Amino acid sequence: MTNLVLVTGGTGYIGSHTVIDLLQHGYSVVSADNYSRSTAATLDRIEAVTGQRMINHAVDLTDLAATRELFARYPSLSGVIHFAAFKSVPESVADPLLYYRNNINSLNNVLACCAEFGVRDFVFSSSCSVYGNVEIMPVTEETPLPEAESPYAHTKQLGEAIIRAVAAARPQDRFILLRYFNPGGAHESGLNGEVPLGQPQNLIPNITRFGAGLQASLTVFGTDYPTRDGSCVRDYIHVMDIAHGHTLALQYLAQSRNSANCEVFNLGSGNGVTVLEAIHAFERASGLKLNVTYGPRRAGDVVAIYADNNKARNLLGWQATRDINTMMESAWEWEQRLAGKGMASRKAGT
Ligand code: WQD
Repeated sequence: MTNLVLVTGGTGYIGSHTVIDLLQHGYSVVSADNYSRSTAATLDRIEAVTGQRMINHAVDLTDLAATRELFARYPSLSGVIHFAAFKSVPESVADPLLYYRNNINSLNNVLACCAEFGVRDFVFSSSCSVYGNVEIMPVTEETPLPEAESPYAHTKQLGEAIIRAVAAARPQDRFILLRYFNPGGAHESGLNGEVPLGQPQNLIPNITRFGAGLQASLTVFGTDYPTRDGSCVRDYIHVMDIAHGHTLALQYLAQSRNSANCEVFNLGSGNGVTVLEAIHAFERASGLKLNVTYGPRRAGDVVAIYADNNKARNLLGWQATRDINTMMESAWEWEQRLAGKGMASRKAGT
């Protein structure tokens, strides 16, 4: 059995940090990423951290023939980690078909190729957004899934349902669904982090870019929610903790510790943090005082969500080792490095 893993979306934010963790734990990695939301510069950053130059194939995974051609080149894959997807809640509200086409068609093609080429282990990049607006916190993996609050979240719910159906039809293969909460932060080496193309949608890059003077304002979307300070509650989880969760998931399967052939795990810190608290954590980390703008609620946002992560802790041996303060420190250090390299003001597609 080789330990060669195909990582789709391997030059993206979570994908590249996972590749680093896999390489540092003895795996070999090949990536499939069409650079729609990343650039080849990520390969340099992965090499700077690990000393290893990953091969990426700029394949459109919504093209079945091209996806098959890729799999045929690697007949000894031991597993696939499928990150490749778009992930912005507001963008999916504005352009739902972009999300259904990209996120679902690529998943279907990768699953079909895993079956055809005998790849046994599959780890899926799912999301806490599948939980939607739930009353009881923290959410466990058994929390019933309501109607999704956004097309993005719906593509993750559909993705999970497709994988469960495929797992039922392929009992010899093994599938893990990892529901990330809100990823943030950067690699502690300062050599890799998030490089949003164009205007970021997510809170943390907007905070760090505003702090770096790269954008004119930082808007808090809604302070009239039924939470302790009126702003939304999220479970911010360090990207390196999420990354290591993938390595542990593959090891869990390789050691046949799974009790079913399709299992789901929350990867969240277990702590709910409001938008305002996250901003204050950044101010402590950076020493800056941010003059934020208070705006209306954003379509598609859920009020509050944070994880019960006991299942991942107990079965995968996983834990969240970094908190919101460490996350903001690493995110701010990375933003300053980007500014120093003239990368921070990147426009989409450059
Ligand atoms: C968080 C909060 C915004 C920007 C993300 C990913 C999704 C999934 C879940 C992994 C919300 C508020 C934001 C800003 C703000 N992760 N906000 N001003 O929507 O929870 O989803 O985590 O799979 O892929 O997108 O994250 O960072 O966009 O928003 O006030 O400039 O911050 O309203 O309450 P979200 P987010």
